[in-house]
Amino acid sequence: MQDGLDYAKPCKCREKQILQNKYRFAEMPEQLKDLKLRDYKTDIYESGSNKTLSSQAKKIAVNYVKAFEQMQEKSTGLYFYSNTKGSGKSRLAVGIGNALIDTYGTRVKFTTTTKLLDEIKHTYGGYDIEGMNTSQYLEAIKTVQVLILDDIGTERITGWVNETFYEIINQRMLSKLVTIYTSNCEIDELKHDDRIKSRIKGMVFPVKCPEEDIRTKLRQSDNVEIEKLLLR
Ligand SMILES: Nc1ncnc2c1ncn2[C@@H]1O[C@H](COP(=O)(O)OP(=O)(O)OP(=O)(O)O)[C@@H](O)[C@H]1O
Ligand SMILES: [Mg+2]
Repeated sequence: MQDGLDYAKPCKCREKQILQNKYRFAEMPEQLKDLKLRDYKTDIYESGSNKTLSSQAKKIAVNYVKAFEQMQEKSTGLYFYSNTKGSGKSRLAVGIGNALIDTYGTRVKFTTTTKLLDEIKHTYGGYDIEGMNTSQYLEAIKTVQVLILDDIGTERITGWVNETFYEIINQRMLSKLVTIYTSNCEIDELKHDDRIKSRIKGMVFPVKCPEEDIRTKLRQSDNVEIEKLLLR
């Protein structure tokens, strides 16, 4: 009681529960889900140009989180791209998603384009996704505060795929909601309809990522340890 008024303060365990629910909803990939932006390494890349690209990409990711309110006002997402697999694109996107949940309690949803399309098809068969039918699931994807669309460009493009993406991306654009993409190619190189590419271009700041496979590099250094265990 203060000034004759009652103030309701949420208890810590309820706040924790809300945060846990947000993480569950976000569905970050298992391998990357606990990773923080601060742990993204920039000195792990061999060449000077990749070190520079990774430093820039990290700086952009950190500042994006800091300036998130302005980014939302300007409906600005990010588009992380590089030709090389395993170079850290998804890691950066997940790092941003985790930071937004932790800092602002943002509602974030992570999905790969292939998984998204598979799940939509799954609902056509009368099955639900987390209790949602087709229109409810599409509505959730169209209206989530931040959508992380991982690996755009890997899916096989058909008329249906173009229609589905157009519906989602156009609705998110009209609602001024931000989307964060990762891809193995530049926006212009995507095989999607021009109306989709034009909308993506209009809604993101493109971020060139390093061209170096850190996934294989980490595997090789793990294998040195594993060799010691297996050949002892
Ligand atoms: N800069 C980095 N610092 C630490 N770990 C990294 C870095 N870049 C990548 N990794 C690790 O390497 C693995 C592959 O990274 P990630 O999945 O982000 O690559 P990607 O660019 O999205 O690859 P793909 O094009 O195949 O989707 C992950 O385990 C990730 O944590
Ligand atoms: Mg990836």
